[in-house]
Formats: sequence, structure tokens, C-alpha cells
Amino acid sequence: MLRERFSRPLHRAALALSESTSEDAVLLGADLWGSLAHARMLGERRIIPKASARRIESGLRAIARQAGRGAFRLDPDLEDVHLNVERALTERIGSDGERLHTARSRNDQVATDLALFNREALAQAETLTLALVQALTTAARGPGGRRTVSGWTHLQPAQRLYWGGILGAHALRFVRDAERLGSVRRGIRYSPLGSGAIAGSSLPIDRHRTAQLLGFEGPTPSSLDAVSDRDASWESLFAIAMVQLHASQLAEELVIGAMPRSGRVRLSDGFVTTSSLMPHKRNPDIAELVRAESAGAIGRLTAGLSLIRSLPIGYQRDLQAGKPVLFEGFERLGLTLRALIPMIAQAQYLSRPEPDQPTASVELADALVRAGVPFRRAHARVARYLVDLESRHGDLSSVTEPELTRTFPELRASGFRLPGQEDEPERRTSYGGSSRREVDRLLTMVEGKGRRAEKEVERAARTWARCRARLGLSQALFRAAG
Ligand code: ARG
Repeated sequence: MLRERFSRPLHRAALALSESTSEDAVLLGADLWGSLAHARMLGERRIIPKASARRIESGLRAIARQAGRGAFRLDPDLEDVHLNVERALTERIGSDGERLHTARSRNDQVATDLALFNREALAQAETLTLALVQALTTAARGPGGRRTVSGWTHLQPAQRLYWGGILGAHALRFVRDAERLGSVRRGIRYSPLGSGAIAGSSLPIDRHRTAQLLGFEGPTPSSLDAVSDRDASWESLFAIAMVQLHASQLAEELVIGAMPRSGRVRLSDGFVTTSSLMPHKRNPDIAELVRAESAGAIGRLTAGLSLIRSLPIGYQRDLQAGKPVLFEGFERLGLTLRALIPMIAQAQYLSRPEPDQPTASVELADALVRAGVPFRRAHARVARYLVDLESRHGDLSSVTEPELTRTFPELRASGFRLPGQEDEPERRTSYGGSSRREVDRLLTMVEGKGRRAEKEVERAARTWARCRARLGLSQALFRAAG
């Protein structure tokens, strides 16, 4: 197609490098939607005969049904999804099909397809991320959530925490991620369709009408910018990378927690593998693979940003190379989250006391502060006491009350006792602290944010489904995207 002015077909190797049909398959639904909206507008504005527009629309709907059954194959010789749809339409309805590309270019078409794809894929990523949030808060509210382990700084025992507080903190990160995905999605407000190749059209097109048929607020204000702009793709890749990084850090929690020495987490049998040589092994391979996914996510973001460095404004073919990284980013995110969600839901979160109860040292110093000792002095006295205990092969778990008040006479009046490890998180009642009440507050807040975000995504998805229904477009193609 489109080679009338050349004496030779495109070189095989050139076609192999340039065709995008394998990755374009995910754009099929968006491409058909955009074409339906364009055809409707062309007919309404009498730019093409009304009857031609009707025949084009019904041809496109038939292709959509065929694609919905998985029976529409993209031919690599036709280069991309746009030319495949146009050729299939013309084969189906005859010469009316040749009117579809009036006042349109593949440059505004691909920009429109990407806007529609990103919107839909972001919504699905939000839904999955929110399902992970729910798995985390449910685990946090379960029996494991009340067990305590040492929170770490520098991977050294720091202060005791409820597992519920740890899981809740991870959930908070993911709810923030879902909000970030949502804000990228809501930023995709304008329709590039009708921008043409670079400068719009001399035909009396109505860009506001096509924007409305596609569920956008209006048309993009500059055709030149619209055919060059892939900002939403890079923003998507950044938002995805953040989810993957948080998933990676959560997976690390599981990998370390499942070490026999650590004994904080027991992964369910469905998420461990064994060794081909060592029969005793319970390896956390799936958590490790989740941890690994962030590497690709960062790479794809970097690839996308590097791609547009120094590109002149206006469509440049380089932009095509940004599509596979975008599609792969959403696909890998889906795979990651679908594995991580049941892994979190089925894991057991176990209590693991520290042998020498080091984390009580802060409580001891705080008790001295309550008795009027400046904190810096309290810190130094407790530190010296710990060294002294160590030299006598003791630790805070074996200290008796008389010994404690001998060393720290200020504590006699208050009757201070070192808290047990299970009681320690409850002592820190400051806002956002480790106590049960604060953990509950966090979980309730995260759950509320999750519910609101979910409702908002559903509302948006219903709006798009209504727009498609008005054009008689089957929904089957859209659930699979992302
Ligand atoms: N396959 C192209 C892409 O994905 C579509 C636009 C092609 N435009 C062109 N002038 N060659 O970017």
C-alpha cells in the first residue's frame, strides 16, 4: 500500500525493521473506535456522502466483532494496524472504504489510538493495584496483623512493630501509586484526532464532535504538538515503574522474611519452588521474580525518555519505537500484580522475638526523659549500660527490676518496667506511630482511599463504554487491553 510513486516495493529487511503489526494488535480496539468516530463525523458534516459513512461504520463494526472473536489477523506486509483496518474495510465494503482516510493521517490516528489505549490500560492497572492494596489491608487485619516483629533500619532491629503496621505501610504506598496512575489517566483529556499529518485540514471537519464521540473533553489545541506528543506514555511508564519498585521492595520483605533464620514469613506452597538438587529447599522464586521486574520497568521508562531526546517537533518515525516499551510495561505490570496479590493473601505473617530484646533500649531512654533526664544524656547512659551488660554476657531481656533501679535511680519513683516485645508497639501512640489504634487508623484511611479510587475508575470506564455503545462498537475488544 501507498507505494504508487516508487519503482520498487519496500526492501524486505526495511519492512522487517519498520512494520509494527505484532505490537499494534493491542491498538485494534482503539483504532476501530477512532475510525468509527471519524466516519460518523465525516458523514454528519457531509464531507463524504451520508450513505458511505453508514456503510463504513457497519463495516468497521463487523471488523470489531471479528477482532473480538480473535479472528482478525494483522498482515505485516501492510505495516501497521491503521493500514490493516483500512484494507480490511475496503475489501469488505468496496470503494466506500477508500473514503475513510479523508482528512486524517496515520500520525493523528496513532496519537489518538495511544490516548485511548493509555486511558484504558491505566484504568486496568489502577484496578489491579487497588486489588493489591486490598490484599495487604486484609492481611493486616487478619491474625498475622497482630503479631509483632522488629522493624528494621539498616536491616538491624530498630523498634518493634505489628505486622499490621508493616503491611499497612506497604498498602499506603500502593494506594498512592493507584492515585498516581489515576492522575495520569485523568490528564489524558484531549483528542488528537483531526490533527492530520501535522497541520489539520482544509476540509470542514468537526474535531469537537470526534472528541465527544471518543469520551474526551475536547480536541487538542495544537495539531503540531498533538502528533508529536507522547507525554502520557512516559508518564504511564513512570507510574508503572513506581508500582514495580514498590512491588520489588515488598517482595524483598517476603524474601528476607522467608529465610529460615528470619522466620517472619511463611509463603504458601503455591508460591515456592524447590531445588533440582537439594530436596529440603523452599525457594521464594516468585517473590524474587517480582523483585526483578522493576529492572525492566526502569529500563522501559529510560528507553522512552531517551527516544524523544532531540526529536524535532512534528511526527517522527522514532516515536513508533515507544509503543512496544509502553505495551510491555503494562503487560509486565499485570503479570507481576496478578502473582503478587495471591502471594500476599496466602502468606503467613509470624511473630519473631529478638533473642536479646535490643529494641527496648529506646523505651528505657524515654523513661529517663519522663523522669527529667535530657534525652542526649539518657541515650549515653543507656548505651554505656548496654556495653556493660554485654561484658557480663547479659542483655535487656534478663535485667531484673532491682538492677534496673540501681543503675537508673530516677526510675524508682515511676515504677518503670521494660516492656515485653509483644507490648512494645502499643507504647508508641503518637499519630502514625506503631500502636494498634494508629495502625487501625492507617488501615481505615487506606481502605477509604481505595474505595474512592475504585469508584472513580468504574465511573470513567462506564463513560467510555457508553461512548462505544453509541457507536455500536462491541466491548469485547476493550476488556483484553493492558
Ligand atoms: N506505525 C506508525 C507509528 O506507530 C504510524 C504512523 C506512521 N506515520 C508515518 N508517517 N509513517 O508511529
